[in-house]
Amino acid sequence: MSYRVQVITVSDKGSRGERVDTSGPAIKKMLEKDFIVGDVIIVPDEADIIADAMKRAIDEEGMDMVVTTGGTGLSARDVTPEATRSVIERDLPGFAEVMRLESYRITPRAIISRAVCGIRGKSIIINLPGSEKAAVECLGFVIGAIPHALAKLKGDAADCGA
Ligand code: MTE
Repeated sequence: MSYRVQVITVSDKGSRGERVDTSGPAIKKMLEKDFIVGDVIIVPDEADIIADAMKRAIDEEGMDMVVTTGGTGLSARDVTPEATRSVIERDLPGFAEVMRLESYRITPRAIISRAVCGIRGKSIIINLPGSEKAAVECLGFVIGAIPHALAKLKGDAADCGA
């Protein structure tokens, strides 16, 4: 089964064309090895706009997963976790827990990422941090678990075989 993924870069400067987005394309490239990935969307750090982009990708485009990069930190404009919470129906805490734990081994600063991961319908939403380095590192920690998570979410009743 080929799952479809939407990457959303959350960045005020990126959305205004004042900064070249390298994180979104790097994430897209990583995901393309295992998934069908659409063109990266860039949105500003506005909770309503981020939430609408997530809902459109899942409810209208039928994406199996949305992966965001950016807006998970502590500045006043960092609202990606709030936007994500407004659209998810269930938490998927293990993904964010592993990303923070493994990232903390690389840099103690990783503790401040407020990334949220959760489920909307039969789709998964994953927040990644904004820098290309951090986003690639974090996705690398969890990417291997995604196909199994999606299969279970879609109703695969097979034994987990762990
Ligand atoms: N995670 C990893 N793996 N590597 C990093 O370098 N940087 C941290 C953190 N997570 C980092 C990381 C830093 S410095 C910040 S501010 C937060 O991610 C939030 O980033 P964001 O606001 O760009 O989403």
